[in-house]
Amino acid sequence: VPIEEVIRRRISVRTFADQPLDKIILGKIDDVLSSLDNPFQIPVTIRRIESGLAENGAKLGTYGVIRGAGHFLGAAAAEGDLALEGLGYGFEKLLLYLTSLGLGTCWLGGTFKKSEFAKAMAMPEGQLFPVVSPFGLAAEKRSLADILVRRIARGDTRKSWPELFFRGDFSSPLAAEEAGDYRAVLEMVRLAPSASNKQPWRIVRDGNHFHFYQQQTPGYSKTFGYDIQRIDMGIAACHFHLTAREKGMPGKFIKIPSPLPGAPENTHYVFTWMAE
Ligand SMILES: Cc1cc2nc3c(=O)[nH]c(=O)nc-3n(C[C@H](O)[C@H](O)[C@H](O)COP(=O)(O)O)c2cc1C
Repeated sequence: VPIEEVIRRRISVRTFADQPLDKIILGKIDDVLSSLDNPFQIPVTIRRIESGLAENGAKLGTYGVIRGAGHFLGAAAAEGDLALEGLGYGFEKLLLYLTSLGLGTCWLGGTFKKSEFAKAMAMPEGQLFPVVSPFGLAAEKRSLADILVRRIARGDTRKSWPELFFRGDFSSPLAAEEAGDYRAVLEMVRLAPSASNKQPWRIVRDGNHFHFYQQQTPGYSKTFGYDIQRIDMGIAACHFHLTAREKGMPGKFIKIPSPLPGAPENTHYVFTWMAE
């Protein structure tokens, strides 16, 4: 399935059909778990469990946000430079693969009981364990909690091009019509999921360089105890990279010391895509 179609098809699914998944599908998922890479070379631990079979008698709570999920995936990584970005990239690549198999998923960074999941998934101690995702077949009718969470996050909306993408520096917005070959690549970033749908990615195109900046939502990281929006940056890199790769547009992610002056308030540089 073309990556653009998969990205457009993905939405957060919070209500699942009470229907067991085929062993062949679960086998396919397990096969990709061990081969998930990310361009930042971050080792990411990914575990899969069936909620009914949670070992150690662990319960798996999602504060009523997720209904009927029989399966979960979780991701952990040791803290370090680009660790959460690498985790975001790798886990999103996995969730897009599940989407391509016709399964529903939902990133959960807040509404899951971390200690219960860490125990059930035997996550390595001392690592950051920021997210899980339920997966399975979407139910036909959404739960009330699902409808409310989606409405509060305004999950169906996205910021416009001029709010997200720039040309040369932050004072000149980049219009979709000016993006040339990169139009679809940037559009796929625009459609990415992000925590509370805050869409912190800002990208400045400077010739063959695309500088990725993070616009931090003030106070937001205090809620989580770490900067969850770094994960969103990794998700953006994933959508950008997979789309560019499928379109045969080579390049790589690099880090440049302070590439641009004049970044807006609360906005800092993270990495650059260098087109080749
Ligand atoms: C890092 C991250 C954490 C998230 N945490 C939660 C969460 O705790 N609970 C929840 O219901 N949705 C969570 N979401 C889902 C977002 O709310 C959702 O992606 C966004 O509203 C856009 O909607 P969409 O995914 O349907 O396109 C999270 C998304 C990301 C990327």
